[in-house]
Amino acid sequence: MKKWFQSWFDSPYYHILYKDRDNQEAEYFMDNLLEQIHLPINSSILDIACGKGRHSMFLADKGYHVTGIDLSEQSIEYCKQFERQSLEFYVHDMREIFRTNCYDVALNLFTSFGYFNSDHDNHLALRTASMSLKPGGYFILDFFNPNLIKSKTPQQHIKKVEGIDFSIYKYSDGNTIEKTIHFNDAGKDFKFTESVQIISKNTFLNHFNRVGLITKHIFGDYALNPFEEKSSERMIFITQKPQ
Ligand SMILES: C[S@@+](CC[C@H](N)C(=O)[O-])C[C@H]1O[C@@H](n2cnc3c(N)ncnc32)[C@H](O)[C@@H]1O
Repeated sequence: MKKWFQSWFDSPYYHILYKDRDNQEAEYFMDNLLEQIHLPINSSILDIACGKGRHSMFLADKGYHVTGIDLSEQSIEYCKQFERQSLEFYVHDMREIFRTNCYDVALNLFTSFGYFNSDHDNHLALRTASMSLKPGGYFILDFFNPNLIKSKTPQQHIKKVEGIDFSIYKYSDGNTIEKTIHFNDAGKDFKFTESVQIISKNTFLNHFNRVGLITKHIFGDYALNPFEEKSSERMIFITQKPQ
């Protein structure tokens, strides 16, 4: 039986529903991040859970050597058409060791975490990210702000994309944010669920500590304003592996 994140992210409907996902926002975030960490051209970057590669491609265009990894075979197949010397993609589970002491930066962006329902799996994923870094390398994780998202649920709406009415219900059971997505396409009913663990700032800080990463900054949005517990949209950790 596949887990929700193995089937939903690999389904064409996930990409239809989120087709308006903003490339400009991704590029704005990456530009701000690069200013923050002063990364020399030719540095190597691992984009963990890269999806369709919107951050990877932008960073490779800027002159970095980028590897994107993702569990979704469909997304990686799509990305592979853009491969070149400085840009490569692999199907890979973030919990398993990829390469060690190899990258100047590892990224986990746009809530690509909290899927596993197990602290052990969370630990494995963060340990793998840490191991992928050279000494002095940065690991950056971009997650939702649990306080803000809890205050905004429950929430229900319908989103029409490519003629499909996606009925979306988002709620919290206290431990996870659940999103159910119902729709009908060509006479067939579909239902998918997203279920993301609510992980507090302190839990992340403990995890980073355990995998040998030092937290340098916590930002609250893609403009890199400071993180505010009550009001920030995002919770963006900049961590570093000691030299
Ligand atoms: C919310 S999307 C974000 C994608 C991308 N970072 C972006 O910003 O467009 C989450 C991604 O995590 C991937 N994913 C889920 N579980 C994974 C795992 N165990 N290992 C690697 N990737 C995973 C999914 O396939 C999906 O592409």
